[in-house]
Amino acid sequence: MKAITLIAASAVSLAAAAQTPVYLDESAPITDRVADALSRMTLEEKVALSHAQSKFTSPGVPRLGIPELHMSDGPHGVRAEVNWNDWGYAGWTNDSVTAFPALTALAATWNPSLAASYGKAVGEEALYRDKHVMLGPGLNICRTPLCGRNFEYLGEDPYLTGELAVPYIQAMQNQGVAACVKHFAVNNQETWRDNVDVVLSDRALYEIYLPAFRRAVQDGGAWSIMGAYNQIWGEHCCHNARLLNDILRGEWGFDGCVITDWGGAHDTRQAALNGLDLEMGTYTDGLQSDNSLGYEYYYLANPYLDLIRKGEVPMEVVDEKAGHVLTLIFRTAMNRNKPWGSMCTPEHYATAKAIGDESIILLKNNGLLPLLPDKAGRVLVVGDNATRRLTDGGGSSELKPKDYITPLDAIRAKYGAENVAYARGYMAGPPVWGQDIPVPRARLDSMRAEAVAMAKDADVVIYIGGLNKNATQDCEGVDRVKYSLSYDQNTLIDEILDANPNVVIANISGCAYEMPWIKRAPAVMHISYLGTMGGASIADAISGDVNPSGKLPYSIPVRLADCGAHASGQEVCFPGVENAVPDINRGMAPQVEYQEDILVGYRWHDTKKIPALFPFGHGLSYTKFDYGKLTLSDKNLNGDGTLTATISVTNAGPVAGKETVQLYIGDDKCSVLRPVKELKGFEKVTLAPGETTEVTFTITPDDLKFYDPATSQWTVEPGKFTIYIGASSTDIRAKSTFNYSK
Ligand code: BGC
Repeated sequence: MKAITLIAASAVSLAAAAQTPVYLDESAPITDRVADALSRMTLEEKVALSHAQSKFTSPGVPRLGIPELHMSDGPHGVRAEVNWNDWGYAGWTNDSVTAFPALTALAATWNPSLAASYGKAVGEEALYRDKHVMLGPGLNICRTPLCGRNFEYLGEDPYLTGELAVPYIQAMQNQGVAACVKHFAVNNQETWRDNVDVVLSDRALYEIYLPAFRRAVQDGGAWSIMGAYNQIWGEHCCHNARLLNDILRGEWGFDGCVITDWGGAHDTRQAALNGLDLEMGTYTDGLQSDNSLGYEYYYLANPYLDLIRKGEVPMEVVDEKAGHVLTLIFRTAMNRNKPWGSMCTPEHYATAKAIGDESIILLKNNGLLPLLPDKAGRVLVVGDNATRRLTDGGGSSELKPKDYITPLDAIRAKYGAENVAYARGYMAGPPVWGQDIPVPRARLDSMRAEAVAMAKDADVVIYIGGLNKNATQDCEGVDRVKYSLSYDQNTLIDEILDANPNVVIANISGCAYEMPWIKRAPAVMHISYLGTMGGASIADAISGDVNPSGKLPYSIPVRLADCGAHASGQEVCFPGVENAVPDINRGMAPQVEYQEDILVGYRWHDTKKIPALFPFGHGLSYTKFDYGKLTLSDKNLNGDGTLTATISVTNAGPVAGKETVQLYIGDDKCSVLRPVKELKGFEKVTLAPGETTEVTFTITPDDLKFYDPATSQWTVEPGKFTIYIGASSTDIRAKSTFNYSK
């Protein structure tokens, strides 16, 4: 009898041991899994979860079989493998990828379904490369054309940014790859990015700089977010109590993981208490260089453990942090249902091409475009960017593409190699971190002379210059130092225009630049960095095989002083003043003041009546779109009701095309300053010649609100509002008013 009892008892304990622990049970709620895992972990294991173990990984819990987290930049494709313990490339030969167009290109498509294809494709490549967290998309607002990282963001408007971020994030995360939206928040310049203290009003924060992040969290369900390098209210964003504890977790209910930007943590107490979960990229070896494996020096490593042991960090906080990292691991690395992913597939190339095609913005066209291959004659291509691999450089978003079609190759394929000559015209040095190595003047002069001489013999010139990914061009870590193009390109363009009137300017850049030759140039395209398939998109848009449909996601001011961020001069507004405020661990920090406040981009141009050279939302087509009459479902919007605005659009031209119909709303009279109008909706439609379609927008009171700092609430005042339907922010095709009452 006794023996039977013993056998029965050991059978029970064997069965219990064989039962899957809750933390490994994918059918259990994630909060239960986290609680179970935490209950099995030592304090040291919890602390280990909160800091890096290499440049791009954090440890899991090896004893429990909880895997490491592997991260990668982001946001335009999966970055080549970086060394375990320093920033050098590992030199792998199997880490080439699809280079997708830059996020400014995605923004120029104004097409949320392409944003979804983008997120899906990058997610698939991340899976193939065994990455769990992709460091992107970047959701900072383009405040000034000089910001070195504008090309990694989605333009100057919070609504457009949010509309594109949400599908990108959802489509990526559907496959078990986390998006890490960055850089939270107000990281709008690279100058002094490590510690500049940004001074801005709560209205500017809530109305301009936060909405896209809020949407990424609440509508996109982002699983992780990266703190910015800079400070606000004298506290670094990576451990900023108000930003992370109050706004992100408190107001928005974020349940994901807060990760530092690489090297963005500066203080153990703040890192421990102010909402940070995972510290990455801090320099080890006394925090100055990365030449030793000193991850235990991280703020959230031994110093954090000491604080906990002294009782200065509550255990709930320790569990919360480790729990957020575990949640991220469960959602990604430990997700058994995720697919295998794929790399450089025809579908990925097609996605890259489709985004590129729809991103090209036709700024101006006197009829020279499209340049039909059988009518083009002798074509001369001029410009460094016609052959330069623009995926090199730029900082952390740099990519190693398996394939890269240059514009010159694609133009030669399109027009016949025998008909296309090339003159470089100018050149930039190779991309070297922190430098734009100057090319000797004599060299530039002789290249220019050669191009101008060749332009005289050509029937048409296609000029492909612009910015590049060198420091002080479009590049992380350094802002641009001037609004005009470098390498004497304006002289070159002027002389080419003197030599030949048929010049197509097809410049590549991630942001606005000065165009002093604009009146003389017969046809101008504005093109972002388009990656692997970029050359093909450019040749197709020039030849008319693709009808351009991109619209500017930012304004192009005539001159820098016309941009709100520069209106009050460089001291204070951009980039600010050095040594202005005390810094937690570096003596003094610089400070920048956003004096233009809520009037960013077109909000400034409209309200101050300073016309842009090309306004936000502008972009022409090879066809023509006629807009019909605007009809509102009602003249009154009451309480929490809605009203609809409907307008018809007709393709009145000879070829099929796509038009982005834009809805702006203005508050005609308000007790506080409001922009003349703000983007509240858009829809991209595809129309065959002669075809008409109707576009309907639904307007809710939320679309009318401003942020009231006195009550910390979004509010709307009763009164008259104007609806503007435009082909751009200034090309308004129909207007109507309605009345709002509570
Ligand atoms: C950049 C981030 C990037 C990280 C990792 C930082 O310097 O600001 O955007 O994700 O490095 O490369």
